[in-house]
Amino acid sequence: METILLSDSMSDLKQAGEIIKSGGIAAIPTETVYGLAANALNPDAVSKIFAAKGRPQDNPLIVHIADLEALTPDIAQLSGDALRLAGAFWPGPLTMILPKGTALPDITTSGLDSVGIRFPSHQAAREIIRAAGVPVAAPSANISGSPSPTTAKHCVNDLWGRVDAIVDGGPCSVGVESTVVLMTESTPLILRPGAVTAEEISRVTGKAVKVDSRVMEPMPEGERAVSPGMKYRHYAPKVSLTLVKGGFKSFGEYLLKAPEGSGALVFEGEDAYLSVSALTYGRRENPDEQAALIFDALRRVDEMGLKHIYVRAPEASGVGLAVYNRLLRAASFEVIELD
Ligand code: TXA
Ligand code: MG
Repeated sequence: METILLSDSMSDLKQAGEIIKSGGIAAIPTETVYGLAANALNPDAVSKIFAAKGRPQDNPLIVHIADLEALTPDIAQLSGDALRLAGAFWPGPLTMILPKGTALPDITTSGLDSVGIRFPSHQAAREIIRAAGVPVAAPSANISGSPSPTTAKHCVNDLWGRVDAIVDGGPCSVGVESTVVLMTESTPLILRPGAVTAEEISRVTGKAVKVDSRVMEPMPEGERAVSPGMKYRHYAPKVSLTLVKGGFKSFGEYLLKAPEGSGALVFEGEDAYLSVSALTYGRRENPDEQAALIFDALRRVDEMGLKHIYVRAPEASGVGLAVYNRLLRAASFEVIELD
């Protein structure tokens, strides 16, 4: 397939919208990560997303809108707590799992009777969705299993020749995927942590929001996932990773005994003090910065030609919980605790 590279000029954004409207697929920027977009109402177009990403068919897509008016009851039902959360956090990095309407084909939601709805704040994303004139299905625009893309270059590396267009809207400001919250039970349940936190959702709904156990633990063998995406290994570079908890001094000492071919992913300023090659992903006390840099760092560690990477664990609170969750999965839940 021939892929074209588009800019974020108004005419290019309109062209991307036209491609989506007419059944094509395009990688588009959002404030979280780049998404691979298609007309959510067109089963043939949606099937192209699964093919281009190599995504398992039982992993449902989320549907993006650019105006609240686009969220008609035949797409999804928005009421009660969900309506309050929409008022507080949309447009922004929050995906709500809602009762699904009749207009969406089964392939978009993998046959579930619920659908994830997201209203991105990114201006270019909104222009593209408006130009498409339809709800837009979009998973992250990476090859399934690899780190999510936060620049157009990441999309080019993964999807060139597999999609109709890639729109360059610069680096994503948030850098980790949206918070996914299940809104079909009596209390909201966080299925995937993101920039909108459980505390913030609790404050708006007045309810004790739970975080699914699978956010911090591997899924037990044979169990059915609430969110099908949770059962797949995710965000993983090709090199193997270990997440390391504890202070920097113990980290440095631990690495002195690390086998040949080891490297490290650490916080800004720490790399100069280690016995192995190291990359950084933001300042230790700045989780927003870590979120914005983590996926690019995971892609860059692959280019270092190392056998194993030890990663300094971030503080697992606020948006840091999202960063911790992605690293935990990239490390296939391999964690060591020093100190
Ligand atoms: O920030 C984001 O959410 C990005 C940008 C492009 O918008 N999109 C994204 O999509 O991360 P994706 O497909 O990579 O992740 C969506 C997650 C998957 O883990 C999927 O299994 C889950 O949401 N999901 C989708 N629909 C669901 C549903 N009806 N019930 C439970 N989980 C669902
Ligand atoms: Mg994804």
